[in-house]
Amino acid sequence: MEKSLRKWQIAFFGDKSIVDSEKAVTIFDTTLRDGEQTPGVSFTLEQKIKIAHQLSDIGVDVIEAGFPASSDVEFETVKKICEEGIRPKICGLARSVKSDVDRCIEAGVDMVHVFIPTSEIQRTHTIKKSHAEVLEITREIISYTRSKCSLVMFSPMDATRTDPKELIEVCRVADEAGATIINLPDTVGICTPSMMKPLVEMVRKNVKCRIDVHCHNDFGLAVANTIAAVEGGADQVQVTINGIGERAGNADIAQTVMIMESIYKIKTNIITERLVETSRLVSRFAQIPVLPIQPVVGENAFSHESGIHSHGVMANPGTFEPGIMTPEMVGHRRRLKLGKHVGKHAVKQMLMDANINPKDSELDIIVAKVKEVSGRGKKVTESDLYEIADSITGTG
Ligand code: KIV
Ligand code: ZN
Repeated sequence: MEKSLRKWQIAFFGDKSIVDSEKAVTIFDTTLRDGEQTPGVSFTLEQKIKIAHQLSDIGVDVIEAGFPASSDVEFETVKKICEEGIRPKICGLARSVKSDVDRCIEAGVDMVHVFIPTSEIQRTHTIKKSHAEVLEITREIISYTRSKCSLVMFSPMDATRTDPKELIEVCRVADEAGATIINLPDTVGICTPSMMKPLVEMVRKNVKCRIDVHCHNDFGLAVANTIAAVEGGADQVQVTINGIGERAGNADIAQTVMIMESIYKIKTNIITERLVETSRLVSRFAQIPVLPIQPVVGENAFSHESGIHSHGVMANPGTFEPGIMTPEMVGHRRRLKLGKHVGKHAVKQMLMDANINPKDSELDIIVAKVKEVSGRGKKVTESDLYEIADSITGTG
């Protein structure tokens, strides 16, 4: 770890890790389920199979392939993904009804993810059940599911708006009935990191099974909350590629994994060098462009325009990049960009890379020209730069 970062950690947390860095956190990807619930996104079967293989290739531990009971097409898709025989466990979503669980089993999943609304607002306005009824349904459906499948995930939906006492009760019931993992969904993204950590710690004290989190991004806190859950002891995190999902989406895989790996030194099974490629594949299939300023995978994540920054990274990339995360680690490239803040060193380097070696006086004019053109709001590409250089050096 970078020495300066370590000093800050020691200052705030003492000379110990923030989390147990021996711990490995597993990655549950729900791009094909919650991700496909992104308004306007609909993957074809072929695209879903390609995404499933990509997720398998990059080391995801569990793939939520869909919601088999929701339609015959969805059922067939989940079944086909199961038949691919890929390495990750394949999970199917089910409401707390036996017929939904049966559809998951018929599709051939390795894990069934059973959910039930537990917050008062969702209980009364969606399933119209009391807390006592929810406890009874949970007990029955979890033991039924466990009799059919060795891996059972239970989600008290809207966990972060559920009365804490009722949340503990339902989690205990699910745990006793045989759930192998309990997922705590921040269904409408209202949690904050300082709420999420104690929430996970509280559930941790009350159940034996593993704990997972599923965070939505309504206030832009999905990744931060997911990391706070890991600080609180979560064993698994739910993510999607590019953070796609209902409304403002879910926690983004690239950001979540890189924070865990680079800052917390927590091991995941993800081949991080393939994160950018995976982001591009899903962006293409979902037809949702990745913003240039998207952390980790965006075009600008390792790009530098200002003279001071470019000069700095040419001397040592750690000057104006995190250092503990390099472009190579995520399958990216460092780029020096042309613009009105560009400096002489960057322009010289970019020209040298193209075997153009202007005299110092010519370089000053080239830089001034680049600044002048981009100052007028025009984009200056590398080929524009070569043209400007040729016109000034009299070559070309
Ligand atoms: O956001 C949510 O609560 C969900 C559940 C199905 C886990 O997606
Ligand atoms: Zn969700």
